[in-house]
Amino acid sequence: MKKVAVVKEQFPGERRVALLPENVEKLIAAGYEVLVEEGAGEAAGIIDQNYADAGAAVTSRSQLTGADVLVQVRSLGANTVNGVEDLELLNAGQLVIGMCDPLGNAEAIAELAQVGVSQIALEMVPRITRAQSMDVLSSMATIAGYRAVLHAAYQLPRMFPLNMTAAGTLSAARVFIIGAGVAGLQAAATAKRLGAIVSAYDVRPDCREQVESVGARFVELELEAEDAEDAGGYAKEQTEDFLTRQRAFMAEVASEHDIIITTAAIPGRQSPLLLTSDAVHGMGHGSVIVDLAAERGGNCAETEADQTIVVDGVTIMGPTNLPSEIPYHASQMFGNNVTNLLLHLISEEGDIELDLEDDIVAGCLISKEGEIVNQRIGDLLGVAVETPEPPQESEEPEGSNEDESSEDEIVDRAEAMTEVEPVSEAIESEDLAESPEILQDHEPPAEDIGDTYDAEPAGEEVEVSPAVDEEPLDESIEEEDELVEYETEEDDEELAEETDEGYFEEDGESDEVEEVVEDPEDNDEDSDEYVEYEEEDEEEDAADLEEPEDGSGEVGEEDGENEEYVEYVEYEEDDDENVEEEDAEELGDSDDQSDEADEAEEAEEGGEADEYELEDYDAAEDYGDDEDPDFDFSDYEE
Ligand code: NAI
Repeated sequence: MKKVAVVKEQFPGERRVALLPENVEKLIAAGYEVLVEEGAGEAAGIIDQNYADAGAAVTSRSQLTGADVLVQVRSLGANTVNGVEDLELLNAGQLVIGMCDPLGNAEAIAELAQVGVSQIALEMVPRITRAQSMDVLSSMATIAGYRAVLHAAYQLPRMFPLNMTAAGTLSAARVFIIGAGVAGLQAAATAKRLGAIVSAYDVRPDCREQVESVGARFVELELEAEDAEDAGGYAKEQTEDFLTRQRAFMAEVASEHDIIITTAAIPGRQSPLLLTSDAVHGMGHGSVIVDLAAERGGNCAETEADQTIVVDGVTIMGPTNLPSEIPYHASQMFGNNVTNLLLHLISEEGDIELDLEDDIVAGCLISKEGEIVNQRIGDLLGVAVETPEPPQESEEPEGSNEDESSEDEIVDRAEAMTEVEPVSEAIESEDLAESPEILQDHEPPAEDIGDTYDAEPAGEEVEVSPAVDEEPLDESIEEEDELVEYETEEDDEELAEETDEGYFEEDGESDEVEEVVEDPEDNDEDSDEYVEYEEEDEEEDAADLEEPEDGSGEVGEEDGENEEYVEYVEYEEDDDENVEEEDAEELGDSDDQSDEADEAEEAEEGGEADEYELEDYDAAEDYGDDEDPDFDFSDYEE
């Protein structure tokens, strides 16, 4: 029976553990024997007894030396501080599985190989459908994207959601995500859930659909490189000319946001520099940048890895181990990935097979019994690799994982994570191994990139998808995309202006966007109403406040910055036949705008529609529970 040993992590601050008790049970059922080093799971909230209950033998570190497989989160290459201590556990013929930064620290691979061990670098698991449930990078990026937003939220001297309170209107935070891969999409989804106005940009225009699917809007740049993506779905390294123009554009967009989360990465390369020092200085005081790419130099010129610094009033964070800050779930995902890999490696006879004909093994096995077997690592070390290359090796494009299977099998990690919420839920509720279809059924994004954004200094257009709070976009919303002028002139400081009830207005001069307003009485997605807002020119505002121009509006709320809005209440055509009659009565004929205008007027006069307005204020979205707020919003209406 093959012995798998779970090593307690030695890297300072590392709180993850490579396997959870539930993984131990699975491995034992599959024919493995599992040893766990004492205290291995403690930092993640798992005590030794939990492992023992699952069937593992909890032992001292010295007892692990007899194991056939050592699993750890950070092997030597990814633990430059004290990973060398692991060497004492190792014997020739053992298999080490962990993250080991093979492309960034190939020397450590060589050091381990000298002991005669075989090594699997989890970072090198190929991006093919069959290996998705083993993809540790996606798992950790998911955690990091989420955590980055929480860090930003703590640092930001503002709240995320728009709030209309008796003490004035609190505008929603504006979050910009650079790089819409796995981490970027998770960050976008998280910021959206917290109530921010979220935009995202990626050099790969195909990301647009994924960005919109999490309720953010995709910022597209006309200078998009046609060959932004390699055959493996990863971004290609761009020319310096492209990056220069991109930086100018980023500076412009950055100045209009409160938070920037940067995640742009090219596998195996230094992070592209996208936010210059000038861009940082152009941001508002109190703004926050969280640079997830800090470990490889960062996307921001000012980033210092693992430091939080303040430059000209802008807080810049460069955390390099965010998954460790959520150690339980990070370990759960990591453990599931490793378990799936171990189950893949074990033969019916109970042997561990390191078959280089298998494209998964060929992708991530970097040394076999002391011999470097991966061409890319061999190139980095200047070592000849004699092992036959996997089928796609010769086609290896620049910047991609080198070991990939046939193209139609290649999976876009970000795309696989597009359905952020469903995937996360699946991970929480069941083992990925038991629900591989969740990760596998991802159609490639549509080619439709839509309108682009003119990269001239002013008057740019950004394609905007209607933001949706938490719920996936329904079809009707997707059809409602509008172009919004992306103002960059100095006097247009506010890109996005608040309206009410947690929804926002994205405005240049007189643009309109539509936001879904959920009727608290009606949980049916299709019966959402739309509230449309329009900001008038300054001169017109005063008149509007006294007399709505077309009689269909009601006087909007005045926000904390003395900007007034005319609010036009408009209900979406409701094609759901199951809408409750009660709602229909309250909302009036949803097909008729003039009726809606009447409703709005009634609202002003304190009629029935007023009641509706108040109920809307009490929406769970704003308060997160069914309780009414303490104060009376009817006062506020006036
Ligand atoms: P990914 O490869 O899925 O996404 C990176 C995205 O950046 C891709 O969509 C790519 O198209 C985009 N990109 C590349 N060059 C660009 C450019 N010039 N402009 C705009 N977009 C560009 O990578 P993933 O898994 O989302 O990871 C993102 C970053 O987060 C990586 O640097 C990774 O090392 C880092 N990370 C950091 C952690 C931390 O604790 N700080 C934890 C996990 C990941």
